[in-house]
Amino acid sequence: MLNVGIIGCGSIARQRHAAEYKHNENTNIAGVFDVSRERAESMAADFGGKVYESAEALIADPSIDAVSVCVANAYHEPITIDALNHGKHVLCEKPMAITLAECEAMYEASQKNGMRLLIDHNQRLTPAHKKAKEIIASGELGRVISFSATFGHKGPEMWSADKSSNTWFFKKNAAAFGSMADLGIHKIDLMRYLIGADVKNVFSRMATLDKKFPDGTPIEVDDNSVEILTFDNGALGTVTTSWTHYAEECNASTLYCEKGTIKLYQDPTYSLQIVYADGTKVNYQLDRIQTNDDKQQTSSGTIDLFVDSILTGKPSVLDAADIIKSMRVVFACLESADSGRIVDL
Ligand SMILES: NC(=O)c1ccc[n+]([C@@H]2O[C@H](COP(=O)([O-])OP(=O)(O)OC[C@H]3O[C@@H](n4cnc5c(N)ncnc54)[C@H](O)[C@@H]3O)[C@@H](O)[C@H]2O)c1
Repeated sequence: MLNVGIIGCGSIARQRHAAEYKHNENTNIAGVFDVSRERAESMAADFGGKVYESAEALIADPSIDAVSVCVANAYHEPITIDALNHGKHVLCEKPMAITLAECEAMYEASQKNGMRLLIDHNQRLTPAHKKAKEIIASGELGRVISFSATFGHKGPEMWSADKSSNTWFFKKNAAAFGSMADLGIHKIDLMRYLIGADVKNVFSRMATLDKKFPDGTPIEVDDNSVEILTFDNGALGTVTTSWTHYAEECNASTLYCEKGTIKLYQDPTYSLQIVYADGTKVNYQLDRIQTNDDKQQTSSGTIDLFVDSILTGKPSVLDAADIIKSMRVVFACLESADSGRIVDL
């Protein structure tokens, strides 16, 4: 039995980490911490575990084997490194950290201490994405020539534990990034994963089009973005992100391959659809993508994978070693949006 600690007791901790640890027969939620004592106590009451006085105290407890880091982006790195240095395995939320140097320091700490470090890129684990990976890797559709991927919803202030337009998600010092890194990281990473190649260069535009703080001033980060990615195997496509899709969430991708098209999460019943070049259609009824509107998110698969990777020592698709390459693309997009130029990786 692994004793796990959860640091940060907001929405993702409650809806995914705590709920999924509770369902995993090999874990016991031993401790929780949040800068909001009230939130930590409420989560401990619902899911179990001792409420610690600080992240440092939880991490220093030798009875804790593994830690989930579910705090605001700017604090991923110090908490993760402290936990790794204290001999804990870590599952850290995305985006991994707020600078490339921080991401590298986290990875190095995991290597130096011989501890697992996984990053919660749960989109790699959804049934339709797993099946698409299998189909592309089999070669039956030939190579991916182009793609488009969109992730847009009505904004993190509707999801965060602090449901106000004063949320940390809108502030540079705590979030560092806006919609591009918050949502785009999922799709950038997914395209890298599905295509099975690395990104060669990027061109990005980001804008703050609509979101405002309570005093009416624009938020400090982007609320919409468009990225053009060129892969080193020639594939070309776009990633679009938005926090202003007020009517309907969009979490869909299309990959145009030599022998057909793969459509992901575009149909409410068939999460994976293949249209072959001869017009034949094959629909797969696999699952429904998890959205921020879901009341119960108990099956992302991330927690089970984290626990399994600790217990078996097997490599996992969420290992930081590969996710860090997706973060390089995010930082290149930031540089491109800033400079107005194409950025090579
Ligand atoms: N993998 C995914 O699909 C996914 C989805 C949503 C959020 N996230 C990520 O999860 C992280 C948390 O997001 P959320 O939606 O739960 O936000 P949230 O606002 O609901 O919760 C964040 C919690 O962290 C606490 N906190 C902030 N800084 C802290 C610190 N230094 N020490 C202890 N507690 C601290 C806050 O008090 C709050 O309770 C973010 O990095 C976010 O990008 C990932």
